[in-house]
Amino acid sequence: MQKPKIAPSLLAADFGNLQRDVEMVNNSVADWHHIDVMDGVFVPNISYGMPVIKAIAQHATKPLDVHLMIVDPDRYIKTFADLGANTLNVHYEACTHLHRTLQAIKAEGMKAGVAINPHTNISLLEDTIKDIDIVCMMSVNPGFGGQSFIENTYDKVKALKSLIKNKGAHTLIEIDGGVTSKNAKALVDAGADVLVAGSFVFKSDDPAQTISDLKNIAVD
Ligand code: DX5
Ligand code: ZN
Repeated sequence: MQKPKIAPSLLAADFGNLQRDVEMVNNSVADWHHIDVMDGVFVPNISYGMPVIKAIAQHATKPLDVHLMIVDPDRYIKTFADLGANTLNVHYEACTHLHRTLQAIKAEGMKAGVAINPHTNISLLEDTIKDIDIVCMMSVNPGFGGQSFIENTYDKVKALKSLIKNKGAHTLIEIDGGVTSKNAKALVDAGADVLVAGSFVFKSDDPAQTISDLKNIAVD
């Protein structure tokens, strides 16, 4: 079994010590920095915007995995490319012309990600899966860190894995929300490639060690 990529979610970082927390991720075995952008419309919360992401990008040494929880994300594709995003995840539920949006993200040189809410069925990705570099599968309702993992996610991961296989796609499966050492192994066994973890990492006594534990737990 391959080790999963780990993407600590900076939403759970100490914003008064953001540089310190970004550097902790730099010096850990994490693979990506996960950056949650919320607009207070698509989700009932507002996180942070461009100036803060610019500051994160100045210190980050690993790829930036940006998760847009905003309506009409097409408005900001170029902005996030200029900020240094490597992957741009837009929500399926926020895109009227998803196929066009995916092409626009790729045209800016980024990997194209599609985030799906817990209620969104995998079958809705059938016609776009070959154009999607990564599916960010929400395992909580987006908007807040620290929520409980939704158990139905395991079945969705399996369904998505077989869709990817059947279509001959190369899409990665990322799990976002409520990831802990309790569910990490089962998620990787089900087919997850990337685990996002916010609270579980940043609220632990030794975040770098927790990142390492998550990376290795799945193959132990
Ligand atoms: C939720 C965000 C997640 C969140 C994960 O809307 O998309 O990335 O930061 O946080 P935890 O790991 O605390 O559930
Ligand atoms: Zn996220």
